[in-house]
Amino acid sequence: MTAAAALATADPAAHVDAGRLLARLDALARHGARADGGVDRPALGEAEIAARAELVAWGRASGLEPATDALANLFLRLPGHTDTAPVLAGSHIDSQPTGGRFDGTVGVLAALAAVEAIQAAGIVPKRPIEVVAWMNEEACRFAPGMMGSEAFAGLKTADEILPITDAAGITVGEAAAAVLAADDDVPLRPLPGTAHAFVEAHIEQGTVLEQAGVPLGVVTGIQGTRRYRVRVTGEAAHAGTTARADRRDALMAAMRMIAAVEDLTREAADTLFTVGLFEVKPNAPSVIPAEAFFSIDIRQADDAVLDRLGTAIPETLAANAGPCAVEVRQIAHAPSVAFDEGLRRTLYDAAANLAAPAIDVFSAAGHDARSLARVCPTAMVFIPCRGGVSHHPSEHAEAEHIVLAARVLATTLARLADG
Ligand code: GLV
Ligand code: MN
Ligand code: MN
Repeated sequence: MTAAAALATADPAAHVDAGRLLARLDALARHGARADGGVDRPALGEAEIAARAELVAWGRASGLEPATDALANLFLRLPGHTDTAPVLAGSHIDSQPTGGRFDGTVGVLAALAAVEAIQAAGIVPKRPIEVVAWMNEEACRFAPGMMGSEAFAGLKTADEILPITDAAGITVGEAAAAVLAADDDVPLRPLPGTAHAFVEAHIEQGTVLEQAGVPLGVVTGIQGTRRYRVRVTGEAAHAGTTARADRRDALMAAMRMIAAVEDLTREAADTLFTVGLFEVKPNAPSVIPAEAFFSIDIRQADDAVLDRLGTAIPETLAANAGPCAVEVRQIAHAPSVAFDEGLRRTLYDAAANLAAPAIDVFSAAGHDARSLARVCPTAMVFIPCRGGVSHHPSEHAEAEHIVLAARVLATTLARLADG
């Protein structure tokens, strides 16, 4: 049966196995489980290797073909009856150190459930459909994030990414090699890849859906971001015997810089400014700090404002360095993204077929869909997220909303794979 014929008779949405989807969510949450119910699963670490092995086993059990690449992106392929560019759906399975069990993982498992539903409906799609788990979305171990999806989209090369180190000095290349070595006979593909379209389901990480009482969001786009690493160098000296005039205190300089940049970002009230990483050396109570190292994360939907900040931030840091030296590196710059109109309409149609209310939502968080939107029609659906809480162990999404997203994906992927 062709996909068109099958869609007329069997909506794959009806074949989503809700119980299996939810049981898998529980199973993956065990890899990197925190005592408080959250998940700590850094990219390319032991817990992610174990979670990946489960995904591969589940995919194989359903007759899907696993594949990977030099950056350890993972694909589970349902072949089509033509060897054309695949329709992709998925997200990531790495987490923040204080992560919950839904961010990323829910999008991979909903895509897997959707592809299995298409099989269960007896549909052999024209195009292949692939479930994907992108490597390192979160940027907590290796920075910047979205490494796997950016390489797939050809925005960066593997050669640029593989030498990047984590805090322990381990390179992406070394960590990815360990992941690939642990794989059980998973074939390697070249980078960059090709995709006909990409759809990502994700928890909203905000409160728009919850406040509207709507179970599904069709995402309009993602706000832009710039990210920096700043190193301030002063000089270590005795806390009691060094006069104020003689000090080169890196921490004091960093504090002035952070306050000045925070002030700068107030120009537009909706600019979000975060210093989430801060280290000081030697970090001894009676020694004047010799070095401060911190991150800057800026989010803003208006690209003109983001660009102005991009010019002003290095100048502001330098102007507040005092007697210290400052070195600033912009590690990520992604302008705002608008998702594909046609694909958004397909998602709305799929929701309407299920009589599920859906509304537009703009994403304040970054996602791998941002990378794919540069190379193929891309869209996202959002699942309501309790209190908007995310990157926190208490992150929560309702089972019925997760299952609805998988159903909407099933109809959508079947349609896309027929085009
Ligand atoms: C993704 O996790 C982000 O920080 O937006
Ligand atoms: Mn995520
Ligand atoms: Mn996240």
